[in-house]
Amino acid sequence: MNFAIKTGSLKSLTTSCLVLGVYQNKALPDITAEVDKLLKRKLSRIVAAGDMNGALGQTVMVHNPDGMRAKRILLVGLGKKTDLDRKKFARAVGAAAGTLKKHSVPDAADTLANVTVKDADIGKLGQLLACTLENSIYQYNHTKSKKGKKPALKKIDVYLADKSQQGTLQAGLDIGSAVATGMSVARELGNLPANICTPTYLGEQAIALGERYKDLTTKVLTEAQMKKLGMGSLLSVGNGSDEESRLIIMEYKGGDPKVKPNVIVGKGITFDTGGISLKPGAAMDEMKFDMCGAASVMGTMTALCKLRPNINVVGVIASAENMPSGHATKPGDIVTSMSGKTIEVLNTDAEGRLVLCDALTYVERYKPNSVIDIATLTGACIVALGSVNSGLMSNNDELADKLRRHSLEVNDPVWRLPLDEEYQKQLDSNFADIANIGGPKAGTITAGCFLSRFTEKYPWAHIDIAGTAWLQGKEKGATGRPVPLLVEYLLNN
Ligand code: BES
Ligand code: MN
Ligand code: ZN
Repeated sequence: MNFAIKTGSLKSLTTSCLVLGVYQNKALPDITAEVDKLLKRKLSRIVAAGDMNGALGQTVMVHNPDGMRAKRILLVGLGKKTDLDRKKFARAVGAAAGTLKKHSVPDAADTLANVTVKDADIGKLGQLLACTLENSIYQYNHTKSKKGKKPALKKIDVYLADKSQQGTLQAGLDIGSAVATGMSVARELGNLPANICTPTYLGEQAIALGERYKDLTTKVLTEAQMKKLGMGSLLSVGNGSDEESRLIIMEYKGGDPKVKPNVIVGKGITFDTGGISLKPGAAMDEMKFDMCGAASVMGTMTALCKLRPNINVVGVIASAENMPSGHATKPGDIVTSMSGKTIEVLNTDAEGRLVLCDALTYVERYKPNSVIDIATLTGACIVALGSVNSGLMSNNDELADKLRRHSLEVNDPVWRLPLDEEYQKQLDSNFADIANIGGPKAGTITAGCFLSRFTEKYPWAHIDIAGTAWLQGKEKGATGRPVPLLVEYLLNN
């Protein structure tokens, strides 16, 4: 998608569709009021007639507005003026995007970034606007013989009333657009079926990314190389699979080489059958999404490569396929992790933590400033937080607070769960240093506790995206979360 800033006369703005906001209670934002005057109060009359009451997300398309260059006007409800926050703003932009799509509008001029939104400057609004609009045109086609109709929308002029804010707005648009590209990378990888998107495939995609962008160096470790490193825990997950496991390392070097990197680590189980602790059949297809943490790492690295910030970031993906077979790990088997800790695998379906723990030990070599892992780790997280917030756990309050704050800024919320010492004993094992499950209580937290045993050497946070990484039902598909949060955190820390 192409974004350009436009200033000056609204009357002579050439566009297929001018997007204007309307508040609830009939009030009009300044720009809408200006256009209303040009149109001899036509917009006020539409509002007075009750066709548009300004409720959040309501849209009305007006064709051939007399006396203006614009071919159409799209009115978008913004809700109550005093309630307008980032979340509602993004909802309004999303509603506009949906209507533009429905009408196959090829280009639009959007004025919404000029409204006043609580705690957001025009840069942040531009970022949300670009991200939301660009995301709306994502379409999955890879495995369809009949490709969907290409989305018409290609170009957005972002109208700016106050010219002095051009720089701020441009910076926001650039970030929003890069984040949307990153999200579409994450969505596409998530949506691909597990017979295409294997650990080997993820490795190949990472190599391709490294070849495309010179700021990125990619390394893919094979099973033999991981064995040498002592990654007995990660390797145990792929034992039952004919697909080889992979550890993928992507180093983005944009900053002073002396500055310690921030590290992101993604769970990349390309299919999770549960292994010998086999999952029930219903909706098992959705376990192709069990690599959405890995996909978010790939998407985030892509966004960074596009933006080229002066920072250092390492992205790591721990990838395996969890299958039952005569070679598979069995309940009760004990494996030795790279850290030297032994693990009793009481349930082979708690495999995410087994691949992550070795990746988390591996990244100690970077002496990282911070490490964030992202994983579709526990069904219990869906029970606790649903599909609104991702679960956040951390050994560092400052890092957790930052992530919560950034998550609200980009509309990709996380909510922190506690990691009290008292939960740790649920992981006691009679036969190994630690068990891989902690019983029925507090399943998301005990998974976090398990990881915390491998992250004592750096500030660490864990994001459980089991409920937020994909949608179910008619809209089944990957969401691209939490790419917005990860990019926001990395750019600002
Ligand atoms: N990938 C699943 C978690 C999951 C399940 C995410 C459903 C989204 C939807 C994970 O590997 C898993 O199976 N976790 C188990 C852990 C349990 C055995 C302690 C779970 O949540 O049931
Ligand atoms: Mn599992
Ligand atoms: Zn899993």
